[in-house]
Amino acid sequence: MTKARKNILITGGAGFIGSHVVRHFVHKYPDYQIYNLDALTYAGNLENIKDLESAPNYHFIKGNIKDIEFINGIFEKHQFDAVIHLAAESHVDRSITNPNDFIETNVLGTANLLNAFKASHDLLEDKLFYHVSTDEVYGSLGKEGLFTETTPYDPQSPYAASKAASDHFVRAYGNTYGLPFVISNCSNNYGPNQFPEKLIPLFINNIKHNKPLPVYGDGNYTRDWLYVLDHAIAIDEIFHRGSMGETYNIGGFNEWTNLNLIQLLCSLMDEKLKRPKGSSEKLITYVKDRAGHDRRYAIDAGKINKELGWKPSVTFEQGLEKTLDWYLSNDEWLENVTSGAYQEYYQKMYS
Ligand code: NAD
Ligand code: DAU
Repeated sequence: MTKARKNILITGGAGFIGSHVVRHFVHKYPDYQIYNLDALTYAGNLENIKDLESAPNYHFIKGNIKDIEFINGIFEKHQFDAVIHLAAESHVDRSITNPNDFIETNVLGTANLLNAFKASHDLLEDKLFYHVSTDEVYGSLGKEGLFTETTPYDPQSPYAASKAASDHFVRAYGNTYGLPFVISNCSNNYGPNQFPEKLIPLFINNIKHNKPLPVYGDGNYTRDWLYVLDHAIAIDEIFHRGSMGETYNIGGFNEWTNLNLIQLLCSLMDEKLKRPKGSSEKLITYVKDRAGHDRRYAIDAGKINKELGWKPSVTFEQGLEKTLDWYLSNDEWLENVTSGAYQEYYQKMYS
């Protein structure tokens, strides 16, 4: 896939992963026009992309992918050559309490984008709809084995089901209407700009404030962690060199049980905050398990490695170091996103 697609819509670019993807494309491809469409939900934050405001090839559009008329209008106006779709409700715990938000944004919102993209071109050849998805669509693994691109879908949470449904719609539009697409399914990301509802930034913030670290269930759940910039680089590779109609799994080759990860985080934070060894671990508090909690995720990223030569560029140690340093030197960002509605959410979740 080497066709020039220079007029690109990226959705969800004010969120965690999207902000890194947008920045990567704006800087690396100055001859592309990058349109960042985001509704600025609780998870979207213009601070994440403030540095791009004056870039000549960057444009921000505030809008909601649930709004059909608005979406049709921007596709008609800008005639995008390609879409990189990241906008989503992304937190599993919120999908347990408010599943409809996930159905509306992740399923219907994706369908709105597919319809508008299809309608905006007489010829779809040379265009591309890149759908960013998750390894959670595959369900939960036992002790052994890895998710490959041919693992059957078996989503377990409302979030995972909504992402699986959106993946199915993308493939169905490819099959039925010849819409050119690629899908990538990625493991757990971490890094700067991640909203402190997800494990790593939540625990960094809680350690900083000497608050309890709520470990769900027995803590022996496994996730495969990837530094967010490596995800952005993988998306770039797939966007430019991936095969049309294909799926690529992206992962960190980096499995950790929650407990081991939390212990590592605690010891790194003790060092950074110059607190006595073992003080952060004392904050660990076992709490009620997440409903339907998937036991283990682990990705076989062999296909993207073999076909596109991609592999993570930073080790977990390097990535965590960068992440902790970022959170500890961005007090204002953290204060801003944890004030207001966040406090209400936190009380409901953890008291
Ligand atoms: P995030 O929650 O940090 O950001 C989501 C962004 O989408 C926000 O800026 C939000 O304002 C925007 N958004 C939400 N609903 C919208 C709507 N209706 N219209 C327009 N914009 C809307 O999410 P993230 O963690 O950056 O995840 C981005 C994408 O990557 C998602 O599709 C997610 O499923 C996928 N993904 C995430 C991970 C991960 O570990 N975080 C891993 C694999 C895949
Ligand atoms: O695998 C990819 C997915 O990773 C993405 O698609 C999702 O958008 C992203 O949120 C993430 O989902 P998880 O549910 O794995 O991430 P989270 O950070 O919420 O939780 C990681 C693990 O830590 C999980 O086993 C639940 C546990 N956990 C989480 C929180 C927030 C706790 O034990 N305590 C907590 O307070």
